[in-house]
Amino acid sequence: MRSPESPAALPAGHQAEALFSNPETWERLPLWPSTESRLLQCCAVSDETHDVKSFTFRQPDAAPAAFMPGQFITVRATVGGLPLMRCYTISSSPARPFTISITVKKVPGGILSNWLHAHLHVGATLEAFGPAGMFTPAPGQRSKLLYLSAGSGVTPLMAMTRAGHDLGLDRDIVFVHSARTPADIVFRQELIALQSRLPGLQVMQVCESKGDAPDWQGPVGRLSLELLQRLVPDFPQREVFTCGPAGYMQAAQELLLRGGHPAEHYHQESFDLGSTTAGSAEAVAESPPSSTASAAPPIEAASFSVTLAKSKKTITVSGAHMLLASLRRAGVPVPSSCGQGLCGTCKTPLLQGQVAMTHQGGIRQREIDKGLRLLCCSRPESDLVLEL
Ligand SMILES: Cc1cc2nc3c(=O)[nH]c(=O)nc-3n(C[C@H](O)[C@H](O)[C@H](O)COP(=O)(O)OP(=O)(O)OC[C@H]3O[C@@H](n4cnc5c(N)ncnc54)[C@H](O)[C@@H]3O)c2cc1C
Ligand code: FES
Repeated sequence: MRSPESPAALPAGHQAEALFSNPETWERLPLWPSTESRLLQCCAVSDETHDVKSFTFRQPDAAPAAFMPGQFITVRATVGGLPLMRCYTISSSPARPFTISITVKKVPGGILSNWLHAHLHVGATLEAFGPAGMFTPAPGQRSKLLYLSAGSGVTPLMAMTRAGHDLGLDRDIVFVHSARTPADIVFRQELIALQSRLPGLQVMQVCESKGDAPDWQGPVGRLSLELLQRLVPDFPQREVFTCGPAGYMQAAQELLLRGGHPAEHYHQESFDLGSTTAGSAEAVAESPPSSTASAAPPIEAASFSVTLAKSKKTITVSGAHMLLASLRRAGVPVPSSCGQGLCGTCKTPLLQGQVAMTHQGGIRQREIDKGLRLLCCSRPESDLVLEL
């Protein structure tokens, strides 16, 4: 018989990582395709901070759904007559598949995040497309991990941490979360509680300022190489997952590189505005997505015709701009969400012509082979015919 001092032998190191990182671990449940929208029923709403709420949903038939820790769903709603689509990471654990939670930060001036905070209550329904995204554990990654997050970027890393705990794994994780002030730390208490149960998990919370908590004992300031070296001296040996605002991620990536961390063990996901609104859509879609994949240089000043087969319309677009931005400017509505080649919402059949596409996992090779393209991250290279 086991004594309380000798817990069950859990898989450690590479063994634990192999179990955690194997998609088959998570895919034993019914799949919810990312192309299929379902009506989720809200069964709980909780305040995480003064401007962050978690919303928990179940499917109407209470069915479980498979997803990988780190994936997101794409929510579709009409607010003030405006049809909107937005991505939200599933913050709950895939090992608790009967419910799905998203954790939403209220963005000043943001349409859907404010609407969700104001109107989504227990019993209400919300339409969403199934889980997608590549910011997930994968076979071959290192077993020692460093999670770096800021603000609402904590959500995918929280899902990974919760999932490991629910699988009974004690993985070697250092989780460094940055927030503006102690009052802005999302999942503050839960992370501390998880740390007390998992000897392999070290949680460090860094605040830019003490705000209204003068007794805050943790580090104050922004993440720097010096701070990282002090908090996590072995960071160059760790697989790093980073999520947060663009400026934070750029700084994190730079300081990791300066500190000798190998780029091939670095993963990041951006929540920053893609094509979420007409205004921001164009601003983002005209610049190349922040993919590490090599992007073809824009074809300078070339113009091409784009024929829309269904709507029987032809417009002229510039080879320097992403198709989504050009179509929007011409008043052609195209569903979109992330604007970064991540979510797959803007997938459209290309019937004729050539584009240069630099996606970030929002489309599969077999879909590309069938002629589908993501318009938010595709520049025209010839005259085109689209099935729109
Ligand atoms: C893969 C992925 C996962 C994500 N996961 C999460 C998550 O877990 N939690 C979370 O909180 N968020 C997450 N996001 C972000 C989320 O999708 C939304 O972008 C966010 O909630 C803001 O949406 P909104 O409708 O409230 O804001 P929007 O209405 O899109 O506006 C956002 C900002 O743009 C400004 N703006 C609006 N219109 C204009 C204009 N015309 N010109 C200039 N500025 C303008 C607004 O003032 C506001 O500051 C994720 C995003 C991605 C891509
Ligand atoms: S809008 Fe997300 S892939 Fe294009």
